[in-house]
Amino acid sequence: MFNKRIRIRELLAMEPQGQEVTVMGWVRTFRNNQFIALNDGSTNQNIQVLVELGSQGEELLKRVTTSASLKVTGTIVPSLGKGQKMDLKAARIEILGDSDAEKYPLQPKKHSLEFLREIAHLRFRTNTFGAVFRVRHALAFAIHRFFNEKGFVYMHTPIITASDAEGAGEMFRVSTLPFDQTPRNDKGEVDFKQDFFGRATNLTVSGQLEGELGATAFGEIYTFGPTFRAENSNTARHLAEFWMIEPEMAFYDLEDNMNLAEEFIKYIIRYAMEHNREDLEFLAQRLADEEKQLPQEKRSEMGLLEKLEFVLNNGFERLTYTDAIEILKESNHNKKKKFQYPITGWGMDLQSEHERYLVEKHFKKPVILYNYPAAIKAFYMRQNDDCAPGQPTVAAMDILAPGIGEIVGGSQREERLHKLEDRMKEIGIPLEELWWYLDTRRYGTVPHAGFGLGFERMVQFVTGMTNIRDVIAFPRTPGSAEF
Ligand code: 4AD
Ligand code: MG
Repeated sequence: MFNKRIRIRELLAMEPQGQEVTVMGWVRTFRNNQFIALNDGSTNQNIQVLVELGSQGEELLKRVTTSASLKVTGTIVPSLGKGQKMDLKAARIEILGDSDAEKYPLQPKKHSLEFLREIAHLRFRTNTFGAVFRVRHALAFAIHRFFNEKGFVYMHTPIITASDAEGAGEMFRVSTLPFDQTPRNDKGEVDFKQDFFGRATNLTVSGQLEGELGATAFGEIYTFGPTFRAENSNTARHLAEFWMIEPEMAFYDLEDNMNLAEEFIKYIIRYAMEHNREDLEFLAQRLADEEKQLPQEKRSEMGLLEKLEFVLNNGFERLTYTDAIEILKESNHNKKKKFQYPITGWGMDLQSEHERYLVEKHFKKPVILYNYPAAIKAFYMRQNDDCAPGQPTVAAMDILAPGIGEIVGGSQREERLHKLEDRMKEIGIPLEELWWYLDTRRYGTVPHAGFGLGFERMVQFVTGMTNIRDVIAFPRTPGSAEF
């Protein structure tokens, strides 16, 4: 039986008084044939295993190499050395798996994040990735806890769909048709009637449309699942496969939606601060060290923990898109032509440099922008009634976070059937394809709203990792799907 082991995290919380314990883990280092630093992934701290001279066979000790896996039984005693509270005096050491130290790619030294991405199958065994992925876990757990406490129903929306929820056309096709002999119809087009589902299908870009069906029955639901975007954006904030949390609420307007989103973000940050202090302290130090290499003006004004505290203790700035354009237009940054994309005026889509200017330079806190021009937002957003002439807006809201940019996108939904149909016709979405979606507007339609939080961007925000590829286990990006 294997399960009689104690996790190192729990072990280190004990008072060492000669108790007998068994630990299992992977060797980080082995010094002087005496001190094994053993790690089991429950914490970045290692247990120091003390090998008393002559107590173990020499053949066995030769096999204690970096990343070999061990089972160690012994007694815990207060440590005589500095740097750790206790030692585990080994009575029995068993090698569970050998590791060829010559070939093992992770050496006990600092590796670059770029190098570690190439060995993503092993990078969890480093302190940085240990901390990041424990925090990622905690955030995921906190998300379920938040919605459960609020009485939301967790809904699993389909991964394969026939619709494009965002209408942006950035989809991965799902098909079993042969590539070399694709069946064609009379018009010479690919005949998807012969495909697996009898129609063209793709990986979902969002669970929202199905989420709305749930909300108009349960009142409040949320999804938390993988979503896929075939956008060719090779940036530090885009993945082709990412996880999204999408709550959808009946009887909510845009303001209710913003309030929920802000409360939600603060709740999950607070949860991680309370439960993952040690890992966050480690990550804060890592970030501070990394930023020391940057010129002064590129460094963050606040440390990681300070930033998180600040977000918890301050309201997010809320302003309309129209006011944001005004601020951007009048900014010295714009007047000195420092934006790569100049501010051309009302109606333009905001680039991430604009969003980051608002958040990092102007307001210096998270910002919620709302009431965007209809033309740059998705078809399902509610059309505002009180717009300025020639400037139709929708009840959309985006939350922008320091260092990240857009972290949440959401809106109140258009619940009025004729308005929704008119909008769909206007931008060329066939009504019959979304007949089931439109049915919610036919049978007991209600004001409702929702949003999507990009999970990896949230993990980036909390861990301070600058590249999104370093907060998901096995990133999928253009040109890369290893592991
Ligand atoms: O703004 P988006 O496209 O909104 C939706 O998909 C809506 N259906 C959400 C809703 O109202 N239910 O995406 C929502 C969030 C973005 O704010 C961003 O954080 C994240 O998803 N996101 C990405 N994250 C990583 N890689 C990408 N390619 C992303 N695209 C969007
Ligand atoms: Mg968006």
